[in-house]
Amino acid sequence: MKVLGICASPRGSKSVTLRLIQAALDGAKASGAQVELVDICKLDIKFCNACQVCFKEGKCVHKDDFQGLYDKILAADGLVWGAPNYFRSVTAQMKTLIDRMADAVHCQLLHGKYCCSVASGGSNYDQVTTYLDGLMLNFGAFVTGSVGAAMNQGPSAQEEAEKKALLLGKSLAEDIRIKRDYIEQREMQEEIREYFKKLVQMNKESWEHEYEYWNKLDWK
Ligand SMILES: Cc1cc2nc3c(=O)[nH]c(=O)nc-3n(C[C@H](O)[C@H](O)[C@H](O)COP(=O)(O)O)c2cc1C
Repeated sequence: MKVLGICASPRGSKSVTLRLIQAALDGAKASGAQVELVDICKLDIKFCNACQVCFKEGKCVHKDDFQGLYDKILAADGLVWGAPNYFRSVTAQMKTLIDRMADAVHCQLLHGKYCCSVASGGSNYDQVTTYLDGLMLNFGAFVTGSVGAAMNQGPSAQEEAEKKALLLGKSLAEDIRIKRDYIEQREMQEEIREYFKKLVQMNKESWEHEYEYWNKLDWK
């Protein structure tokens, strides 16, 4: 069982988000997962230029660090997404990564995976966790939960969040192990899947790779 943590704070070892991801990975590891942490702020990930070549060919035109990270994301059973709150959203680094995953959303490539999110904010973190959790459902994954820390609540809030993140990581590993079925999420996923299947069918002339992908799955 592989769990990958993705940190999008540019503050390196000073990042609170990093500590929360680390705690979640510690929890997952204690529950038997093989874990890895990636600091995407140290990677070269270029902006999506909306050329749609990935829809057609299944590969991005950019030569940068994205493909290596994407391979890890697709090989993981569980993902811990972490970003600080920057103006009520994720950091630009996280948004840049997500934008590069448009082919993954059309093909629902996180289907069968479990995700959780962690965030830190000066006063608010749930703008980020709500955003990331909604997005993971949109990619086809189940969401185990989220944890955050607001800096204006003082150091005890951060300590508390780290403890909760450890438990969240354990729950993530348990969900993967038992393949937990979140019924409400599954119902939402089914609607989302139908939406993307129709979209790919509508664009079958130009989105050849995605059309073939769904064809191989018998559109299920
Ligand atoms: C450019 C920028 C924008 C920010 N915007 C917000 C915000 O909208 N809401 C908020 O609560 N905190 C905001 N903050 C504060 C950070 O979210 C906060 O310092 C967080 O703890 C940093 O996390 P890190 O230690 O993981 O980098 C902002 C900080 C920066 C640098």
